[in-house]
Amino acid sequence: MRHIVELFDLSDQDYAQVLELAGRLKTVWQRGERPPLLSGRCLGLLFEKPSLRTRLSFEAGVAQLGGTALYLGQDTGWRERESAADFIRVVGQYCDALVCRVKNHATLAELSAFDACPIINGLSDVSHPCQALADVLTMSESAGNLVGRQATFVGDGNNVAKSLMEACCLSGMRFHLWGPVDFHLPQSCVEQLKRRVPDAVVVQSADPDAVLPGSDFVYSDVWVSMGQEREREARQRIFAPYRIDEQLMARLPASAKCLHCMPACRGMEITDGVMDGPQSLIISQAGNRMHAQKGLLLWLALHEGWLSSEELDRWI
Ligand code: CP
Ligand code: NVA
Repeated sequence: MRHIVELFDLSDQDYAQVLELAGRLKTVWQRGERPPLLSGRCLGLLFEKPSLRTRLSFEAGVAQLGGTALYLGQDTGWRERESAADFIRVVGQYCDALVCRVKNHATLAELSAFDACPIINGLSDVSHPCQALADVLTMSESAGNLVGRQATFVGDGNNVAKSLMEACCLSGMRFHLWGPVDFHLPQSCVEQLKRRVPDAVVVQSADPDAVLPGSDFVYSDVWVSMGQEREREARQRIFAPYRIDEQLMARLPASAKCLHCMPACRGMEITDGVMDGPQSLIISQAGNRMHAQKGLLLWLALHEGWLSSEELDRWI
């Protein structure tokens, strides 16, 4: 049984297939077609933190594919009425897969250990693989072949940055991070990446001159992630110099594009002018969450035997 706790749970071939399926699904969606490839399938959604994009894009995506998404709200009693082991072994008999947004990354391992149904990471404190799939889809729509391109993440070396780094390097891009040294991605993450992608190029620096030149894409996320609210004031002070604003964009060629996973704190990590400006891909990036996740679900359907490649090819 396949679980997608991290991007590296996908082989190189899986990763390419997810993105290829996402592109095909987006094309048929744009034609107004809604192939019922997940007819009769049920996707559970367990969220310990708020969400707009992740929840809705999975719900809408599954509905478009003829399946059903079930949001497991507070009243299911998750972590309150019974053990996680009892919960997942029951849910796994009703749902074909479960998307989980968790406070503690270890919960994903705890749930996937039962092989009750495939577990998909819908964001944890450590990583956000579904976001990174949409990010790469967006960058490739903009630039075509991503090999040799450069993405520079601005700000906190957080969950979004980690998955973006992995996706960029799997796609043959260079990954740079501009942020305060204490908030760079840990060396252990970079070493794990290098084991999977030996040629990966990762440069992290607090000096913009060391990381900004050559950027085809700049990317930011909030300075205060969910669960870090008590650190808000300190983080706002620390990250204030590391923002995507007009001055930063002026250092880059006009062809450089800007991304953000959203939700954004406008006026903090990114200005209104850049977010709504001609170099921004941010709104279509959010739209691509749905297409990327539909690609992931169909990939899963193929690998779990819910769908044959002949049936897939008949529809898309
Ligand atoms: N980018 C993202 O995951 O958004 P949500 O928190 O709204 O799901
Ligand atoms: N880093 C942010 C991403 C939100 C999509 C958080 O974890 O809150």
